[in-house]
Amino acid sequence: MIESVPDSTQTPWWRSAVVYQVYPRSFADANGDGIGDLPGIRSRLPYLAELGVDAIWISPWYPSPMKDAGYDVSDFRSIEPTFGTLDDADALIADAHGLGLKVIIDIVPNHLSDQHVWFTEALAAAPGSPQRARFVFRDGGGTDGDLPPNDWHSEFGGPAWARVTEADGRPGQWYLHLFTPEQPDLNWENPEVRREFDEILRFWFDRGVDGFRIDVAHGLVKDPQLPDVGALVFPSTLEHADGSEHPHWDRAGVHEIYRGWRSIANQYPNPERVFVAEAWVGGAERLARYVRPDELHTAFNFEFLSSPWLAEQLRGVIDSTLAAHALVGAPPTWVRANHDVPRDASRLACDQHGLPPRVAVDDLMERELDPALGQRRARAAALLTLALPGGAYIYQGEELGLPEVFDIPAESRQDPTWFNTAGERHGRDGCRVPLPWTSEPNTNYGFSGLPDPAQPWLPQPDEWGHRSVAAEAGQPDSMLELYRTALRLRRELAVLGDGDIAWLDSPADVLCFRRGPRFVCCVNLSADNFVLPDDWKILLASSPVAPELRPDTAVWVEIDAQLSRPQR
Ligand code: GLC
Ligand code: CA
Repeated sequence: MIESVPDSTQTPWWRSAVVYQVYPRSFADANGDGIGDLPGIRSRLPYLAELGVDAIWISPWYPSPMKDAGYDVSDFRSIEPTFGTLDDADALIADAHGLGLKVIIDIVPNHLSDQHVWFTEALAAAPGSPQRARFVFRDGGGTDGDLPPNDWHSEFGGPAWARVTEADGRPGQWYLHLFTPEQPDLNWENPEVRREFDEILRFWFDRGVDGFRIDVAHGLVKDPQLPDVGALVFPSTLEHADGSEHPHWDRAGVHEIYRGWRSIANQYPNPERVFVAEAWVGGAERLARYVRPDELHTAFNFEFLSSPWLAEQLRGVIDSTLAAHALVGAPPTWVRANHDVPRDASRLACDQHGLPPRVAVDDLMERELDPALGQRRARAAALLTLALPGGAYIYQGEELGLPEVFDIPAESRQDPTWFNTAGERHGRDGCRVPLPWTSEPNTNYGFSGLPDPAQPWLPQPDEWGHRSVAAEAGQPDSMLELYRTALRLRRELAVLGDGDIAWLDSPADVLCFRRGPRFVCCVNLSADNFVLPDDWKILLASSPVAPELRPDTAVWVEIDAQLSRPQR
């Protein structure tokens, strides 16, 4: 037998945690208005406990005009009324804790909503005022100040600057928005901004949340000179040849902010409170800077998410991730999906050669997709992800094998990417479609709690019924049961979670690694069958092994320790 879980007090919970991302608009709708809400999430917590995850991360639940699905926050100390109330949040946290689930919430420090009181005050105040100094206001260029202060562009298309109308009715200063114009960037050079976020962290830690996912963690600090970006492409040519930094991404100054945040979290030791950074940076070494011992606990490993289903790339990412994190003593995370990227089951459904690193839905629309292949690979990817050392993330619906929804009609689309690029980029709606819980279309596939609910905020496709929790539960071949079994084994086997790996000798396109003396994970990314040694005892397989490991299949096996031959 492989050793079972010893004393769980030995390793901090977050070093091995499997965290399930809840996207509140799309998870469960208790009051039937077609939009997910906190009572809905609460009602489904037992499902998540049974699934076997350790924690949930809830995307923003704060009051928001929803210009960017809640990432435009108008008040950090309250709950969006369509989602519920602060009492609902307290009850949700209490219920989750009662079920043994930790609760991580989103914090969005790079920008606010333009409806936040700080921004309305800034608009009413004069240029140069303390109210404007909370944001990045500048005079424009050109003779009349009618040119943006520099060439920065918004992530959602178009320039990163918007011009305001001053109190006297004349066109005035410009403010920076790296995302939509309704998301003005904060000025992190301003101590008042820093103090405000320290207090927001304390507000929620005091209410019992176990941690924060930090939105755009690499974006807070800007070069105060606001130089043009010019031809710099981030992150591939991250630094200028002279060693200077990108004007607004991944600047050294962000780390001082996170050292301060860590010291706040450290004041709440029982249980330990944690951070996970959303930092899209250039490579594992840059990422590891965010998780140095006095900074954040963890950071999303987007290189793994961005890696195509090709053995060489995956092996390279695994090695560089492990090496960079080992240097700073932090656990890696393994993430394949979130609310910003096309669903894995669709991303993996096409030829993986030549895909861009950040695959957009538009890239997939140009390719031929084989949904069955996508499912097969997504199953294998799940076993790979959950066998690697450290923590892992599951985006809601991955455990059901939900595909990307490509055919959302134009009039139903919501993502600002779609509007700001005049439909050129389809954006992220296709991975945000409300979850199917049952096979009944007249309750929005169980998404909405009451009979005769309003239409869901994004339309659900007909196939949702077959992919619902009710349809998959108890079906041995379903994605849901694969996840349930994998998560149960992960809890039972002490060698999974935090730790190290040793690669085993195997063909180049077969990834085969050992965890501890007797656990092996083997993933066949080649086009040929791979013959497993006779005495390997299969604990779990992503697809039937008959008797060879077929292409796009992963297995977890128990081996005789004597036979293991670590290669490097
Ligand atoms: C992050 C979020 C994304 C949001 C953006 C702006 O990347 O994950 O959904 O649009 O930040 O807040
Ligand atoms: Ca609702």
